[in-house]
Amino acid sequence: MQSHRAAWRIDRAGSLDRLRLVEERLDPPGPGEARIAVRAVGLNFADAFACLGLYSATPRGSFVPGLEAAGVVEALGPPLAGRAAPAVGDRVIVLTRFGGYATAVNVDARYLAPLPPGWSFAAGAAFPVQALTAWYGLVRLGAVREGSVVLVQSAAGGVGLQALALLARLGARPVAVVGSGAKLEFLAAHQRLAPASLVLRERRGYAARLDAALAAHGARGFDVVFDAVLGHGFRPAFARLAPEGRYVLYGAADFMPSGTRRGWARLAWRWLRRPRLDPLAMISQNRGLLAFNLIWLWEAVERVPEAYGALAALALPAPHVGARHPFTAARAALLELKAGRTVGKTVLLVDPAA
Ligand SMILES: NC(=O)c1ccc[n+]([C@@H]2O[C@H](COP(=O)([O-])OP(=O)(O)OC[C@H]3O[C@@H](n4cnc5c(N)ncnc54)[C@H](OP(=O)(O)O)[C@@H]3O)[C@@H](O)[C@H]2O)c1
Repeated sequence: MQSHRAAWRIDRAGSLDRLRLVEERLDPPGPGEARIAVRAVGLNFADAFACLGLYSATPRGSFVPGLEAAGVVEALGPPLAGRAAPAVGDRVIVLTRFGGYATAVNVDARYLAPLPPGWSFAAGAAFPVQALTAWYGLVRLGAVREGSVVLVQSAAGGVGLQALALLARLGARPVAVVGSGAKLEFLAAHQRLAPASLVLRERRGYAARLDAALAAHGARGFDVVFDAVLGHGFRPAFARLAPEGRYVLYGAADFMPSGTRRGWARLAWRWLRRPRLDPLAMISQNRGLLAFNLIWLWEAVERVPEAYGALAALALPAPHVGARHPFTAARAALLELKAGRTVGKTVLLVDPAA
């Protein structure tokens, strides 16, 4: 068992320039914990928000970012009565409430799920956050059913592609929105979507393109909008919710600063111009907005096995890994993800063959 590990640590949130690769001691796993030798780490847009100190759950002081990884169980802490324990040597997916950018982690074993047979560690590390986000937002909150017409923002991204996979399983009808022509081309090549269901978020003509997508589905409005951008696309999409429509909001990528620091002036401008809704109008229009941050699930660890069970029942395909970077290139990989140009999931490989 390793007594030391390499980890990407930030001494305090505020700037991505503070992210440093360090060697540090790792204690043996505690009661109910497992030590995972990490093979691949999943990167999330939220990691950049956390390093910038713009994520509500950001730890105070020094922390290791990272919400997910995949690897091999290397050791177990003392067992706890009534808890299922993995076996040493198991190949697992792991959720981490921060701390994932490391070559080894100790975690409560309830955060583990078996790596599906035939999946690479990279695919495993790409899976839990995105799939749980898509499942929670679309199934639990969105109540998507067969035939539902669903607008998916950032559809070529990590969560977006998982949302499309989930909607395909449910027999729903997606309208995929992206921020660039290159992403439209990627979706046209890799997803079975009618051209009218692929929409560019460019401001000019956006509302008309949404109307055309709805018309192509013969729909009066969207049953669900799944959005983590909260930019200029918010109002036109909210206005096109069908009666009983649900706007599921789970992020605000439009607030991401362009540099490595927070940029207070731009953030303040975005904050002042954020959309506001009238609850009384929602009653008469039969529309609603639901919002969530899945970090609550990390804190309610006793509910994680149930959520993993719901995902296993859906038997989603292995996620699309868009970019693989060496573990030592975490900062560059995070900057690339943060810039908003990546497709699919970005992962770090501790083991180059993962
Ligand atoms: N609430 C939760 O529990 C939860 C959990 C996981 C993820 N999230 C959120 O879900 C979203 C997707 O996460 P992800 O990790 O899968 O990332 P991702 O979708 O792979 O990348 C983020 C995407 O946001 C879009 N974007 C819009 N405005 C942007 C801007 N100003 N700067 C950079 N990108 C911008 C870009 O796609 P387009 O231009 O194509 O739109 C970009 O590719 C993020 O906003 C994340 O914070 C929330």
